[in-house]
Amino acid sequence: MGKTTSAVNLAAALAIEGQRVLLIDLDPQGNASTGFGVSQFQRRITIYDVFASEGDVDEAEIATEIPGLKIIPATVDLSAAEFELSDAPKREYILRDKLNQRRGDYDFIIIDCPPSLGLLTLNGLVAADSVIVPMQCEFYALEGLSHLLKTVDLIRKNLNPTLQIEGVLLTMYDKRYNLTQAVESDVRDYMGNKVFANVVPRNVRVSEAPSHGKPVVIYDKSSAGAAAYMELAREIMGRYAQNEQNKNELMHDLGADEALGEAENNSEKEPTETKISGEDKAA
Ligand SMILES: Nc1ncnc2c1ncn2[C@@H]1O[C@H](COP(=O)(O)OP(=O)(O)O)[C@@H](O)[C@H]1O
Ligand SMILES: [Mg+2]
Repeated sequence: MGKTTSAVNLAAALAIEGQRVLLIDLDPQGNASTGFGVSQFQRRITIYDVFASEGDVDEAEIATEIPGLKIIPATVDLSAAEFELSDAPKREYILRDKLNQRRGDYDFIIIDCPPSLGLLTLNGLVAADSVIVPMQCEFYALEGLSHLLKTVDLIRKNLNPTLQIEGVLLTMYDKRYNLTQAVESDVRDYMGNKVFANVVPRNVRVSEAPSHGKPVVIYDKSSAGAAAYMELAREIMGRYAQNEQNKNELMHDLGADEALGEAENNSEKEPTETKISGEDKAA
């Protein structure tokens, strides 16, 4: 639980931090679209059209009130895609192939997946470079997490060999409960630095924001929920900057200065696709 909220607010926070971001609503419930106040009228071209037709991704993109952030909306029509595409050739690769045209235009592409592991979610996991797993600190959380990790392993073996776990995000965090702290310490023991340092507190402003068609980082900037998502965005950007630096240092160590100069000249920042998934045991 917390997938859509995290997808919407992380996308918004990254864009506020100056990143070029695309948010893809891959859930027929369309909650991410609603969370951005995208009206039914605006959902004329949706992610369904991207799947179902020759439609290009950029035709389905809608600008939001946040500069640098676009969204591809969803409607209930998308639920039909699960069985309409069930016989399509390379049916798990449709989204990945469509997104390839747009990768260079974004720093981050965030995909909000539905709760079940159907064809839509598989498409999300195949298109993504990494997975963010929002998790509520509840009794069954660890069980749910290990189940999800097995799923990611299976996807890696069969469909997307480079899929990574970006991180586990502790959400609806309430440190007044002993259980929260017990679960947190288990998850941190088990997953180490794969758990984001930042946690998202249970915060009423977070749950109010969607009914105003705004992410909480816009709806109430000063709320604890907004602060947590802004901090998370910076944590993720910091990781990528660090990776980039390590890569450069490695090339330097290899005496590849010239090659590096080349690479820098040609470099577009590598885009990252991140899927927000979650184990709904915890929901
Ligand atoms: N940090 C939070 N504090 C309070 N309510 C939250 C928080 N995160 C999510 N919620 C609420 O919990 C419900 C489920 O969250 P959502 O992100 O839609 O989950 P999912 O997409 O995984 O089904 C929503 O009503 C949402 O507003
Ligand atoms: Mg959702």
